[in-house]
Amino acid sequence: MSDHAATLAQAQEKVEACESLDALKAVEREYLGKDGLVAELLARIPALPNEEKPAAGREANVLKQAILQALDVRRARLAEAAIASERSATGFDPSLPPPRTQRGTLHPITQVTRELEDLFHSMGYSVLDGPEVELDYYNFEALNIPADHPARDSHDTFFCEGEGKLVMRTHTSPSQIRAMESFEPPFRVVAPGKCFRHETTDASHDHTFHQMEGLVVDRNISVAHLIGAMKTLLRGIFHRDLEVRLRPGHFPFVEPGFELDARCPFCQDGCSVCKQTTWIELLPCGLVHPNVLRAGGLDPEEWGGFAFGLGLSRLVMLHHDIDDVRHLLANDLRFLEQF
Ligand code: PHE
Repeated sequence: MSDHAATLAQAQEKVEACESLDALKAVEREYLGKDGLVAELLARIPALPNEEKPAAGREANVLKQAILQALDVRRARLAEAAIASERSATGFDPSLPPPRTQRGTLHPITQVTRELEDLFHSMGYSVLDGPEVELDYYNFEALNIPADHPARDSHDTFFCEGEGKLVMRTHTSPSQIRAMESFEPPFRVVAPGKCFRHETTDASHDHTFHQMEGLVVDRNISVAHLIGAMKTLLRGIFHRDLEVRLRPGHFPFVEPGFELDARCPFCQDGCSVCKQTTWIELLPCGLVHPNVLRAGGLDPEEWGGFAFGLGLSRLVMLHHDIDDVRHLLANDLRFLEQF
């Protein structure tokens, strides 16, 4: 056996005997380190006779490669053994699929709001956002509800403390005035959002609820336009044509004002949703009152409009057959996970 062969055999034996990565490192240092055996062999070459130099260099390199290979093989074995022992010690099996991650879903009100925003967008409406803490002026005054008007009684209002007359908006109708102030007519907008009323809660009333206001301002607007738009809205919600009817309804900011009913989409001849009447109350609406147009800076002789106030909370309840409005904002995961 040549010197190199003996050295290699000895190195391989030491490598095989290593039981840890640290031990392997020590062997690597001994043979391949800065002051290791191979470095020593290489350092001797310059002193050799010229004709022996190439062979000596080659042999030293062959030895180095062989030792490196032995180290690699052993290192891989040790790594495998480490994983196997960890697996048996901890019961951890890296080949198993990862645990299922929990994904959230959109709140049913957000889902319905987005669907309606898309629908109105496709009909040329812009989507507006308005403040939830609103000036008394926008919430009442500009909507033709003066301070002493009896209609204020039907709005049980949360008044804010502090300077100015601030309220938690009781409806999304203040967006009508804000829209008139920011857009040049003709325009169409919807404004979804939270509203607040200071009232005793029950299965159909909550202190916080969602509405979507709609406002169209143009020349020569009539009730026919309003009905047409509402039929399109119904088609978007229930995916078919439903008969509608108007009943008189009073809101100071519309004249004439209506309650719009639609044929119950859930039955032919009476069910619990329509309370056996075959009609469901869809939304209040009407033609914009001249005083409101004036408050929005528009001339009622030139411009007209229609407005509607869709109850989003009620719509979601209808859609998913939810029997208590308070579920919607209770943040109970058992409820929310169903959507
Ligand atoms: N803002 C009214 C309410 O919440 C609803 C409404 C909106 C009525 C638009 C007519 C027109 O009571």
